[in-house]
Amino acid sequence: MRQIAHNYSTESLGAEHQSVLQYLDKLEKHSQQWGSGGASDAEAKAGLEEVLTFFDQELELHLKKEEVALFPAMEAVIGTDGPTHVMLIEHEELRKNLAQLKTLVPTLSEPDGVLSKQLKKTGDYVCRLLREHIEKEDAVLFPMADQIVPPAEMAKVDQKVRELDAGR
Ligand SMILES: [Fe+2]
Repeated sequence: MRQIAHNYSTESLGAEHQSVLQYLDKLEKHSQQWGSGGASDAEAKAGLEEVLTFFDQELELHLKKEEVALFPAMEAVIGTDGPTHVMLIEHEELRKNLAQLKTLVPTLSEPDGVLSKQLKKTGDYVCRLLREHIEKEDAVLFPMADQIVPPAEMAKVDQKVRELDAGR
């Protein structure tokens, strides 16, 4: 059996998932927190803004590394109809819901039942979607990439990921 390689791109993308999970905990906490008014709401809003800034910058770059560097190298071996297709659909679903949060959060001011409900619903959905997505990538997709992408091609993937980091 071929030994599983530990490559820069799959390892660093996996490590980035750990930061994303920490921000999902913050998203969960602050979207639940908002709505009772006063100082607690101000804290929740500031926390949500911090989370959205992270998603805008770090998460978007992370998704781009997968979409531009890793997934195409896998698709060259297994085609475009396989697991990367599912991951790409989930990336779009995620972006759509994050865009909703980005519209919603700046409008949070006075306690408002409708906004509060929307925030909790979308926040919960993003947390669930992204946690499950990360689990699939960590448990299935990245180990698969380590196995199926030929070493020479994986070296190119690693290079692209480093370039994306450098060009930020
Ligand atoms: Fe990922």
